Amino acid sequence: MLPIYKNKILLTDYISSVRQAEKTVGFVPTMGALHDGHISLIEKSSEESDITVCSIFVNPTQFNETSDFEKYPRMIEKDIQILGNTNCSVIFAPDSKEIYTDESIDLIDIKLGYLEHELEGKFRPGHFKGVVSVVKRLFDIVQPDKAFFGQKDYQQFMIIKKMVEHFNLKTELICCPVIREKDGLAMSSRNLRLTPKERDFAPTIYQSLIGAKELLGKSTIKEIKSWAESLLSKNDLVELEYFEIRNAEDLKPVKDVNEVNELAILAALKVGKVRLIDNILVKPH
Ligand code: PAJ
Repeated sequence: MLPIYKNKILLTDYISSVRQAEKTVGFVPTMGALHDGHISLIEKSSEESDITVCSIFVNPTQFNETSDFEKYPRMIEKDIQILGNTNCSVIFAPDSKEIYTDESIDLIDIKLGYLEHELEGKFRPGHFKGVVSVVKRLFDIVQPDKAFFGQKDYQQFMIIKKMVEHFNLKTELICCPVIREKDGLAMSSRNLRLTPKERDFAPTIYQSLIGAKELLGKSTIKEIKSWAESLLSKNDLVELEYFEIRNAEDLKPVKDVNEVNELAILAALKVGKVRLIDNILVKPH
């Protein structure tokens, strides 16, 4: 049976014994409701590490809407069963008190610079502070050699890179590709909350990203953005938050696509009450 730790001290003891045996530790932090996107990170970690720790913790400090936190799918028994069929070595499923003594004041406030208030940061104020606060604490407990994150949350990956630099941590960060449904919809725990009608629309997000990629070099960024914005907004179910074409290196706006090595095309929108994000990375030449 896959060991499950709820207590951080017991997990730390386990990790120390792994370290004494000179084994390497890979880490995959999650909020549960696991799907093949999460599993791809577990499998990548197990290829590159001797043991893989998966954490399941719905982090209250990164939700800027209480209702989103309350409605976030929780299915720990099913998650445990899913992880039992992977190469995960141990699950860490802490209660909030293992991570925070007081959720409202225990936030880690480091300078995240430009990224903090752009894109996701603009539409979800305080979100990244919450992400940094939980990931730093999880890293302190697990002390991973490598940690695996999804490109699905590309800005989150960049923020965590900043955090690792800020605290001078030794953990190597690995960004893994977006895993999609057959129709292109990026897998997400939130997809479970879509009604059938909303689910039918949802693949349009990926179509807008691919469509934009095809227009690069043929149309201006402004034209591409307005094409994608009208594709996404023509459905009554949708409230578009942003559709942006940015420099993948720093997520800053680009004037000329030929001046950058890689572009990130990113979208965020509410489909009904469910907020979805997606992105693709594109080499412009
Ligand atoms: P969560 O949304 O559960 O995602 C956990 C990890 O899985 C993240 O690194 C995310 O980018 C990755 N992931 C999600 N969907 C994916 C997909 N379709 N393909 C590939 N990877 C995917 O991200 C979080 O949790 C939290 O913010 C967390 C980092 C755990 C901090 O609370």
